Amino acid sequence: MLTTTRTLRLSDLEPVKSDSLLALIAMANADIRPDKIDVGVGVYKDGSGATPILRSVKVAEKRLWEQQTSKSYLGSAGDPRFTELIGEIVFGGPLPAAIKGVQTPGGCGALSLAFKLVAALNPDARVLIGTPTWPNHQPIVAGCGLEIVEYPYYDRDTQSVRFDAMVAALEAASPGDAVLLHGCCHNPTGADLDESQWAEVTRLMVERELLPVVDIAYQGLGDGLEADAAGLRGVIAACGDVLVAQSCDKNFGVYRDRVGNFFIKSDSEETSAKAMARVLQLARESWSMPPDHGAAAIRIVLDDAELRADWLAELGEMLARIHRIRSKLAAAHPSLAYIGAQKGMFSMLPLSRDQVVKLRKDEAIYMADSGRFNVLGMSDEAVDRFVTAVIGVIG
Ligand code: LMR
Repeated sequence: MLTTTRTLRLSDLEPVKSDSLLALIAMANADIRPDKIDVGVGVYKDGSGATPILRSVKVAEKRLWEQQTSKSYLGSAGDPRFTELIGEIVFGGPLPAAIKGVQTPGGCGALSLAFKLVAALNPDARVLIGTPTWPNHQPIVAGCGLEIVEYPYYDRDTQSVRFDAMVAALEAASPGDAVLLHGCCHNPTGADLDESQWAEVTRLMVERELLPVVDIAYQGLGDGLEADAAGLRGVIAACGDVLVAQSCDKNFGVYRDRVGNFFIKSDSEETSAKAMARVLQLARESWSMPPDHGAAAIRIVLDDAELRADWLAELGEMLARIHRIRSKLAAAHPSLAYIGAQKGMFSMLPLSRDQVVKLRKDEAIYMADSGRFNVLGMSDEAVDRFVTAVIGVIG
């Protein structure tokens, strides 16, 4: 047999295109102007402009420090009690036997398991993704070797979902295609499906035998915990198999602790158990066991009635701040009125890339090139300056 040899040289690597969000974080951090406004990355800021550790989480961390006696391994599934408690919030009650979950390093870890599982089912499977989407979705899917089929999700001119295009894409999809859906608080547009659109998408998933992969990273930051999960719960009720990537990074404010879960739902407990064995193998190959600290603190919060009530109050404060700032922006200029009805942490401003760059240069205001901005990225004091600057460039 003929063998060819080739040396492996790092210098042979193709240059990579830098991740736009990570580049934006670095650019904003490097700007030393004192009145800088960073509405780039999706982290919550309170009225003073700080990203605090939630009170409930802080108390739980203290308790954890006092009571935890070992940091020995937990296994690839992480802490089953944590996953069970989050599962109840996502699915609206005790988990049926056909839904099983594992703890993951953030929503990103969960997405990576989802698409590795799709690739294990069929390496030639295609994944339908509406654009624009979170900039890391496509790299995760492509990194699993899967083919991406894009369809236009959002119309910048009408600031609404291009539902006809979405339906056409789903109608043209083949049985066995996977479809990535945003559970709520669409990132980057803030434009969610309404109830009847979710029902139609769900109907098409069943009719076309498509596999829904639902990414729910912002539950509680759109219309509240229950309302934000309604679309996903409809999909779960109607479809045989469903994959769900969940994140606690935003709704518990534990960003750097990397806390999430991956859930699978199938038609039977037996199938879910078999699929979960494969998921655990994929987790073991990827990170072996998930980080524990943030998940352990959240488990303490949710298992304690008083801390759980305080977390709900804190989540309510974050949501109220989102609504307040959205209303203020919507009232500030007719061309910003749509922002009031959109959901979650992000919306896209009607700005060209040149206008975004001008805001960066002249005003020290940092947002993504697409005009995506974090509604919660500014202090109370900064809101007026932000509005004036944006209106200034819109004209
Ligand atoms: C964002 O979209 O800003 C966040 O989800 C942070 C990230 O990892 O990109």
